[in-house]
Amino acid sequence: MDSIPEVDEDTPLAAQLAFDARRRIELQGRRFPKPASTRILTVANQKGGVGKTTTTVNLAAGLALAGLNVLVIDNDPQGNASTALGLEHRAGTQSIYEVLVEDAPLSSAIQACPDIPRLWGVPATIDLSGAEIELVSLVSRETRLRRAVDAYLQERVEKGEEPIDYVLVDCPPSLGLLTVNAFVVGREVLIPIQCEYYALEGLTQLLKTIDLIRAHLNPGLSVSTILLTMYDGRTNLAQQVAQEVRSHFPEQTLRTTVPRSVRISEAPSHGQSVMTYDPTSTGALAYLEAARELAERAFQRADLR
Ligand SMILES: Nc1ncnc2c1ncn2[C@@H]1O[C@H](COP(=O)(O)OP(=O)(O)O)[C@@H](O)[C@H]1O
Ligand SMILES: [Mg+2]
Repeated sequence: MDSIPEVDEDTPLAAQLAFDARRRIELQGRRFPKPASTRILTVANQKGGVGKTTTTVNLAAGLALAGLNVLVIDNDPQGNASTALGLEHRAGTQSIYEVLVEDAPLSSAIQACPDIPRLWGVPATIDLSGAEIELVSLVSRETRLRRAVDAYLQERVEKGEEPIDYVLVDCPPSLGLLTVNAFVVGREVLIPIQCEYYALEGLTQLLKTIDLIRAHLNPGLSVSTILLTMYDGRTNLAQQVAQEVRSHFPEQTLRTTVPRSVRISEAPSHGQSVMTYDPTSTGALAYLEAARELAERAFQRADLR
């Protein structure tokens, strides 16, 4: 019989496999620290298709799997986060629309995610596509989400329920009133940046909007976190973009980058995050590691405490 060919440790594939195995051992069953108070992160970028929803859903799943209580608010009429979390979001389902436009309490729209304990979501239905216009004529149109979330967090305290550790808000690819509401509810903005051409284009506009919100509506707001996504280390371009982002935002950019991965893009069509769809995949590991960094940085950086 022929001998089994030896694995060449020097090939990129073998190196990747060895690296993944080490990371798995390091992260398995690990619990992340609870923040001192609820952290509310708004995941924003006015470009579409840069990984906002994927990042929201998978970071949320990673944090919940590591023992934290996590709430995702789907604030995008496309409802992609609702799909990926397996939330009911047919027309007529109680959703973020009723909360924003009809003053329904947030608790009336919260659903438990089917696969992951400690993970809840507020779905978005097609109704939300009209909200951008309907909000214009409503009183306190910019602070409606904040009031709903504040009331809900307070309600949990009064009922003696465990606090929510993380609230993640997924935004539409625009800077309209839905996104403004999300910037007013959060203290932190998380910007996913796709490691591709034009990645930085438009970032100036986003940062300007955040400055305006800080000046007029939410003085505590800051860009706390940047996550590089869809990274393909084989291309010079991805490396250049990553380097440029890190040099502009050394404090904010997570060390972990999320690679381009087929498993990540397949997961939503199964109504799952990649964390449950294929927990041992490189993509799931990257998001779990990014979630750990996010959770641990809160204790290292004074501005996040
Ligand atoms: N790391 C990744 N690798 C491969 N595909 C990805 C990755 N991140 C996101 N995608 C895919 O790219 C598309 C856009 O991602 P999405 O999270 O929906 O962006 P956004 O919410 O910013 O519009 C989706 O089809 C998603 O499945
Ligand atoms: Mg999206």
